[in-house]
Amino acid sequence: MSDSRDNELTESGQTMVPFLDLSIMHAPFRRDFEMAFQEILSSSRFVGGSRVAEFEENWAEFCDAGAAIGVGNGTDAIEVMLRCLGLPAGSEVIVPANTFIATVEAVDRAGLRPTLCDVDEATLLATPETIAKQISENSRVVLPVHLYGALADMDGISKLAADHDLIVMEDAAQAHGARRNGKPAGALSLAAAYSFYPGKNLGALGDAGAITTNDPELEMAARRIANHGGLMRYEHEIAGLNSRLDALQAAFLQIKLPSLENWTLERRRAAAHYHSMLGEHPRVGLVSHGPDEDPAWHIYPVRVPERDKVAAMMLEAHIQTGVHYPVPVHLTGAYSHLGYGSGDLPVSERAAAELLSLPMFPGITIAQQERVVSALVRALSTL
Ligand SMILES: Cc1ncc(COP(=O)(O)O)c(C=O)c1O
Repeated sequence: MSDSRDNELTESGQTMVPFLDLSIMHAPFRRDFEMAFQEILSSSRFVGGSRVAEFEENWAEFCDAGAAIGVGNGTDAIEVMLRCLGLPAGSEVIVPANTFIATVEAVDRAGLRPTLCDVDEATLLATPETIAKQISENSRVVLPVHLYGALADMDGISKLAADHDLIVMEDAAQAHGARRNGKPAGALSLAAAYSFYPGKNLGALGDAGAITTNDPELEMAARRIANHGGLMRYEHEIAGLNSRLDALQAAFLQIKLPSLENWTLERRRAAAHYHSMLGEHPRVGLVSHGPDEDPAWHIYPVRVPERDKVAAMMLEAHIQTGVHYPVPVHLTGAYSHLGYGSGDLPVSERAAAELLSLPMFPGITIAQQERVVSALVRALSTL
């Protein structure tokens, strides 16, 4: 995450290239944010209400989905959509090991059992092949993650799921505006979960999330579950929880939403520029995408040898980088009880050792990208 210090001169007189610069995205909206805050303060309508309904409607439209249900954050969105299924405790949900831990936490919190699958070497996403290896008689749901803003092969995964009578849901927390075959994330399965964590492609000024779906029954179930089990105060038809989108975050998201398409185009342009500079480098591995894909480039990941050393050298050259993610979920302490060991999901494990995320945000300049690439190339030349 960046703050204003990222743009200050470092001791050696060079500016830091931040991993993410939210201040550029937010600067044009300061006044709108302040006015929304004043209005909501005056109305005292802090949770739910017309601001939430307006954003939900526009978010559903953006995702080509029938409905969007605002919730407290992306982790809750996954948990709530899974709870809507009413599956017996311990039913298995297949999830890629190469994801942010929240995907698996949410499965666990919904009372279901995560089964971790490996990812494809070229895309680093779950595929019908990697998922098929983990299907058992207890499998009920497949939950692909559109990691880095690239859509998983939903046609192939949906076909596999239909053959095995499995439900498909998407973790689209990183995939706002991503497309495959012209279709956006969010309506390619029974339901999809979004995060609007501030650093996401569409980020709130705090935590927020949403579920999108074309299924009216799931929509109503999600609304109930996220609101203490009922649509009205003191109606508790089913066991629920408290995960509501607040009016302020909905208002801030609505102010930013009209810019999302342009921000995505800027990310695509920046990714194309990185590609053109790094595509031929023998020690830099890029993730690949088919011609039918338009990723949202939430993250621009590369694979490099001796990643931690390279990241440290880049930081010395005033370039911030990230790692998404350093430990695949099956090797974390939190999920050691699932019983996986080192070597079980080899592509995810190799990727975790090699992945390095380069600065990527709308407004990144060509000069900044060139500094990133020259620092990376210089670091690799010293290994
Ligand atoms: C892939 C993935 N899934 C789930 C989440 C959880 O979202 P949140 O942080 O809003 O709970 C995130 C984001 O942090 C994510 O990147």
